Amino acid sequence: MDWLKEAMFVREMAEKNNNMFGDYLPMIASENILSPLCKEMLITDFHGRYAEGTPGKRYYQGCKYFDEVEKKAIELAKKLFDAKYADVRPTAGTVANMAILKAWAKPGDKVTVLDTADGAHISFGKWGAAGLRGVELHHYPFDDEKMNIDVEGSIKVIREVEPKLALFGQSVFLFPTPLKELAEVAHEVGAKVVYDAAHVLGLIAGGKFQQPLKEGADVMSGSTHKTLPGPQGGVILANKTREESDDIKKLDWGVFPGVTSSYHLHHVAAKAIAFAEHLAFGKEYAEQIVKNAKHLAETLYNMGFNVLAADHGFTESHQILFKVGEKKGGEAAIKLEEAGIIANMNMVPGDEHPMYPSGIRLGVQELTRLGMKEQEMEEIARFFKRVLIENEEAERVRKDVINFKKNYRKIHYCFYEGEDAYEYIKLVQE
Ligand SMILES: Cc1ncc(COP(=O)(O)O)c(C=O)c1O
Repeated sequence: MDWLKEAMFVREMAEKNNNMFGDYLPMIASENILSPLCKEMLITDFHGRYAEGTPGKRYYQGCKYFDEVEKKAIELAKKLFDAKYADVRPTAGTVANMAILKAWAKPGDKVTVLDTADGAHISFGKWGAAGLRGVELHHYPFDDEKMNIDVEGSIKVIREVEPKLALFGQSVFLFPTPLKELAEVAHEVGAKVVYDAAHVLGLIAGGKFQQPLKEGADVMSGSTHKTLPGPQGGVILANKTREESDDIKKLDWGVFPGVTSSYHLHHVAAKAIAFAEHLAFGKEYAEQIVKNAKHLAETLYNMGFNVLAADHGFTESHQILFKVGEKKGGEAAIKLEEAGIIANMNMVPGDEHPMYPSGIRLGVQELTRLGMKEQEMEEIARFFKRVLIENEEAERVRKDVINFKKNYRKIHYCFYEGEDAYEYIKLVQE
């Protein structure tokens, strides 16, 4: 066996992937693209190192520079979210959620949450981290028309169940959660309030979505690679310090030794840079994301698409959800990919099976980062119409998408924004 050939096969796939995304319109709502400075951190020596514990209190030597990096990441995260506590160690949003469940719930505890079919993430479902922790799940009702949690019904559930934790936050997240009212009731019955901001973290930091820590959340988790365009990772934020609250100390232990050992030091360095970039450009970026999402939703609607929540302004986030026909979501997503648009099939109200959904979910955060504004959203809506309404041959649309995308290869809202996002850099020459 030629092992070098095997290794080169992997490299070839990575290079092809770069080229492919250079030509495609990336519209998966949970994804984004890394800035040049963040990317640089991922190939530093930090990648090979260990740092269990917290800065200054390590189980391994050799951490003096990394300690400075982690302290800086924490300082920047606190500033970005106006929070008193930040843990930058979780290696994913799911890991952040696992740490919170580990710290604040025991097997058998009651937890209230939205059903995954109504938009909650699998980490809060029985097949995910919540199931792993063995908590008892009780679901809030969902208002299909408003595409938001049903406040009155959820208040009733919280009062009846008296949960240990009241969980909020969604993967399909068009509108802010009415958190103030719900958190108040949750606190009345002695529950702690957890807000999963995975998708909307960058919008919250940019002041363009709700502010959960000011609306009653005791803790907020998030992913650092969606609307907050950093490395794949997670974060935990709260508005009390370890010294002020034993619950916060427990969160620390939830992360380590709860669900991490070493925590991918290179990704913490990249996170620190992403936080600095978001402090510098996040407001402007978040504002343009929401403008783009609203404009694309409205344009699609006016072209005849069944965009959800039309009576409520379609969206207040980076996401759009539209229905394509009974169980036709998968088929539509494949057609879009053939035409050069990457999106995902998604359940819409009334769907029963996640593998046979009737909708398409879109996110505009990555297109926005590539410099697109309202005018570009109109061009993109026309591509959708050609593929899904006019049933034009995918190959023909694909050619136009490639031509269109040529002008959007640079990353914006970051330091050194002139760089080509898709250039494949070979460190080892063949
Ligand atoms: C609401 C929500 N929470 C958590 C996650 C998990 O994030 P990660 O992929 O960082 O583990 C997601 C993923 O999309 C999500 O939508």
